[in-house]
Amino acid sequence: PVPQVLDGKVFTVTAGPTREALDPVRYITNHSSGKMGYALAQAARALGARVNLISGPVNIQAPQGVDVIYVNSAVEMRDAAITLAEKSDVFIGCAAVADYRAADISEQKIKKQGDEMTIALVKNPDIIAEVAALTQNRPYTVGFAAETQDVKKYALGKLKNKQLNMICANDVSQEGLGFNSDNNALTLFWENDQQSLPASNKKELALTVVKAIAGKLGLPSVK
Ligand code: PMT
Repeated sequence: PVPQVLDGKVFTVTAGPTREALDPVRYITNHSSGKMGYALAQAARALGARVNLISGPVNIQAPQGVDVIYVNSAVEMRDAAITLAEKSDVFIGCAAVADYRAADISEQKIKKQGDEMTIALVKNPDIIAEVAALTQNRPYTVGFAAETQDVKKYALGKLKNKQLNMICANDVSQEGLGFNSDNNALTLFWENDQQSLPASNKKELALTVVKAIAGKLGLPSVK
């Protein structure tokens, strides 16, 4: 049996993409499959935590014993995240949240136009920055940084600007890793520490990430 070091702790994890409607039949999204976030939820559960999983639209099975809240858009994800973050010890933002949404969602299907068309976008809320800015019941806040270049620099920038406790830098330029694959590699950064996790299955990797978080919370270490 796995030692239940997270017994009594509550984790909230976001996973998957968000889907930003343009009209009744179209939307903007990205290639997140939810696998990394679901694996983190499963790992936290396996170590004894109570887990809320806020999931964008994905095609994978939810892990056993985890409370799943399904959402579509970033705004819906934000509302669920803030409510649950205040009741959590740890918040992990693994979702690939769309940075922008349509300024107006057309009530009717948008008709084909001339050779070019423009869609006005407005900025979405930064969910993890809002969680990290909570003044009451702020959870230990862990972000991800999906980058295709200057991974360390951008990840450290997000750690600082979003006021996170920890960030998992994800180089998504490598074939077979990152978005929509079974494997991944991460570098974990804290203000004064870092840990490199070489490529492996997302489930194994997730367990290592959750154990690293448990260590930073001062909980007994698990082999
Ligand atoms: O789902 P998979 O196919 O398994 O792929 C996993 C993954 C590549 C999606 C995952 O490992 C990952 O890197 N997730 C973060 C993706 C992302 O959108 O990163 P970002 O660098 O754009 O965002 C930085 C952080 O801010 C993230 O914690 C993100 O959840 C959060 N964010 C971003 C924008 C926004 N409006 N609100 C947010 O909370």
